[in-house]
Amino acid sequence: MPVAIYTAILRLPRRCAPRNDNGWSAFMEFITNSPAETEAVGQALAKILTPGAVIAYRGDLGAGKTAFTRGLARGLGSAEQVTSPTYTIVNEYLSGRMPLFHFDMYRLRSADELFDIGWEDYLDRGGVCAVEWSENVIDALEDPIVVNIEKLGEDSRCITVTGGNTSDLSL
Ligand SMILES: Nc1ncnc2c1ncn2[C@@H]1O[C@H](COP(=O)(O)OP(=O)(O)OP(=O)(O)O)[C@@H](O)[C@H]1O
Ligand SMILES: [Mg+2]
Repeated sequence: MPVAIYTAILRLPRRCAPRNDNGWSAFMEFITNSPAETEAVGQALAKILTPGAVIAYRGDLGAGKTAFTRGLARGLGSAEQVTSPTYTIVNEYLSGRMPLFHFDMYRLRSADELFDIGWEDYLDRGGVCAVEWSENVIDALEDPIVVNIEKLGEDSRCITVTGGNTSDLSL
């Protein structure tokens, strides 16, 4: 198991024991107590993602979806500043080991509107697509890794990661 992933995971309380060589199972749950800890989970997950992976976030306003994405960027090796794509719909980070496309689907009303933003083209570019407000387009996402972030308190979050296509998590 890569040391960075092992330590990032073991630092945090979790309720599901790792089941594969990478330290991930098809369902894992973490409790975080700061944005930095949420980023650490994203960073650890990024290390085992493969090109074409789709992350579908679920979680309220201010849950920590953008914070998690910041960790994904770090884990892919990008030092770029990650900001919310609320007004742009998608932000691209191209300096890591593969591209990261960070979407905010809050203003999309249906999966049909995905064609207008060129979703298929992004999928074809061999990167990771991380999708905030995936609920609005969930029908169109194939085998996403679902990352659910629930607020437990001001600074604590419950994060569950569920692998859609388990091969994405190298199981
Ligand atoms: N454990 C935690 N994990 C993540 N964020 C936390 C945590 N504790 C507090 N926070 C705070 O919660 C907020 C999370 O904001 P963030 O922009 O990541 O949320 P979001 O889910 O992307 O929201 P939106 O739907 O508005 O885009 C930040 O202000 C952050 O400082
Ligand atoms: Mg956000």
